[in-house]
Formats: sequence, structure tokens, C-alpha cells
Amino acid sequence: MMQSNLFEPLVLAHGQPMKNRFMLAPLTNQQSAPDGSATRFDVEWVERCAQGGYGLVQTCAATVQSTGRAFKGQLGIHSDTQLEGLKRMATVIRAGGALSGVQLHHAGHRAQPALGGVPAPASEDAVAGLRAMNIDQIVEIRDDFIRAARRAQQAGFDGVAVHGAFGFVVSEFLSPTLNRRQDRYGGSLENRSRFLFEILDGIRQACKPDFQIGLRLSVERYGLRVEELRDVVAAAFQQSKIDYLDLALWDSKQVVMDGPFAGRSMLSVFANLARGQARLGVAGKIRSARRALEVLEEGADFVLIGRAAILNSDFPNRVRQTPDFRAPELPVHADYLRQEGLSPPFINYMRTAWDGFVI
Ligand SMILES: Cc1cc2nc3c(=O)[nH]c(=O)nc-3n(C[C@H](O)[C@H](O)[C@H](O)COP(=O)(O)O)c2cc1C
Repeated sequence: MMQSNLFEPLVLAHGQPMKNRFMLAPLTNQQSAPDGSATRFDVEWVERCAQGGYGLVQTCAATVQSTGRAFKGQLGIHSDTQLEGLKRMATVIRAGGALSGVQLHHAGHRAQPALGGVPAPASEDAVAGLRAMNIDQIVEIRDDFIRAARRAQQAGFDGVAVHGAFGFVVSEFLSPTLNRRQDRYGGSLENRSRFLFEILDGIRQACKPDFQIGLRLSVERYGLRVEELRDVVAAAFQQSKIDYLDLALWDSKQVVMDGPFAGRSMLSVFANLARGQARLGVAGKIRSARRALEVLEEGADFVLIGRAAILNSDFPNRVRQTPDFRAPELPVHADYLRQEGLSPPFINYMRTAWDGFVI
């Protein structure tokens, strides 16, 4: 493969193609208003990234219910009052030449009471002293994911990505340790993935035919089993439920530690599945032009750029201009991030929550 392969368009099953193989990873930045409305900082950040050359720009995790919140200053998509700011975000992303998506998020048992969150556990003892959700509560969260997707469409986004990673609600339902329900949402893998598939099917039905649906899954911690998630993804691919899978690794080179796929690269476990028209992307320490290309050679269709996008919001354009481009080494000075256009709250978040990022 050649560097130019990174800049080939990628046709998706619905809507417009990505103009290249770079997708902005969802990046929480704690810069939204207390009610979840987008601020000027939110709009400026996605505008910079769109102008920086990404094929698709995703928002940070956006709450589908006000009580599903996990982060201070988190973006919301749970109310029509948030439409105006979301419209501004969608508009600047399109003007910058990228496709746009909102990451739909509910923190589940990880919702933060100090921020107005109400923990919503799949099982009895995931959070000490808390009762498991009843069926009505589950159905309400499911329907709020679907309503939020319609809101994203109304705001002018090309699509959404369902946050199914990191033990948040969708990933919690998939986990055999966090989900020990005995009703139709728990037990067998089919039952544990019902919540996810009802969300995906509901979004497909509720939104226009060219709306793009992504799915982000993580495969570590929270009791998640690689071999089970592989079956879930195989079904999503075969039944054309998603336009793309975003495999959320912390290192795209990661090797499976145990179970039937031990010793293989995590990416290969998913890259070997029949994909149909769906596309596969991976995140995790992709910080150089060279690594981005290797990831395509290892079987992905596109790369997700997270921390390197915080360091260089124009990472794709830099790769195009400089074939051996590498993002700067960490840590960096706050001044550097300021010059790169990060807002004060975003810099503060990087300084306080991400060890070794800011000097
Ligand atoms: C500051 C920061 C905020 C993040 N916010 C989100 C988020 O809102 N949703 C999500 O799914 N992942 C989030 N992640 C994970 C990234 O999307 C990405 O998967 C991870 O950082 C690995 O990619 P990287 O090595 O390129 O940073 C975040 C990561 C960072 C560093």
C-alpha cells in the first residue's frame, strides 16, 4: 500500500462517502454549557477539525438523557433546546468538507450523581445499594437513543455513532459480569445484545434512508469477552445494521490476552470477519502517517485519531503534506495546546484528567 491509499474515498452503505480514511475519534472536552448546549468552543473545535482534513468528524459523547451524564461540561442531545448549537456544529463540519456524526451516549451505571446523573445499572449490585433497571427504564433509554438520533438528523448531521464502549450502558448490557439479568435483556449473548440491536434497528427505522449509523465497541475490562463481541459484530455486519464499526482500542497493536483468540492481534480478530458493505476502523495510538498506513495494511478501512487530533487538529492535512509526519511527543505545554486552538476548559481537562499529557 502507498501513502495515497489513506486519501482514497471510502464508500459507506448509506449517504455520502468519506473523502479519505481519517475519522476524528469522539473526544470529550468538557466545554459545553451546564445544560449540555454546545458553546462557541464546541463549534470552533469541530470546525477546526473539519478544516483539518478529516473524512468524518464525530462529536464527543453526547448524552441521550440528562440523567445519563458522566462528565462535567458534557454535550447533550437529549432536548430540543440543544438543537440550535448542534445545528451550528453540523453546519461548520459540512462547510469544512467533512461528514458529521454525533456520538450517542448514556453512562448507565457510570452516570455521575454529582453532575445530576442517575446511575442506571443493568444488574442489582453493579453500584452498591442500587436496584437494577426495570424493563420500562430500559425501553425508555433505548427510545431516547433513537430520539437523539432523530435530533441529530434534524440538526443536519450525516449520522450518529452509538457509544457501546467502556462499560457505559450499551457495553454494560453486553457484559456477562455487569449484566446478570434473567429477562429478555440478560443471560444468553442474544439477550445481552438485544438492547444494542434494538437501538440500531430503531435508529435505522426512525431516520432517513441515507443516515449513517456507526457503532463503537471496546473489548477490554468490564467483563467483556472478545469472542462474544466478535459474534455481535459478525451479526451486525451480516445483517447490515451498521455503516461502520469503530473498534475502540487504547493501542491499535493490541494483542488478545486470553480466550480462543489469545496471541492474535485484536484488530485481526475483527478484520477477518465478512464485512458486507460495512466498514471497519480502529483507534489507539495512531500518531504517525506510517502507523495510519500500517493499520490499513492490517485490514482496517479507516483510522480513528484521538490524542493526535488534540495535538494537531489538522493531522490528516499534515500527513498529506508530509509523508513521514508524526504528532509531537507527550507531554506538551499548555501554551502549545492554546496555539493549536484548544479552549481553556479543554486544556484544563487534558491537564487534570489525562496524566502525562500537559506539562
Ligand atoms: C481527552 C479524551 C476524551 C475522550 N472522549 C471520548 C468520548 O467522548 N467517547 C469515546 O468513545 N471515547 C473517548 N475517548 C477515547 C478516544 O476516542 C480514543 O478511542 C482513545 O483516546 C484512543 O485513541 P488515541 O490513542 O488516538 O487517543 C477519549 C480520549 C481522550 C484522550
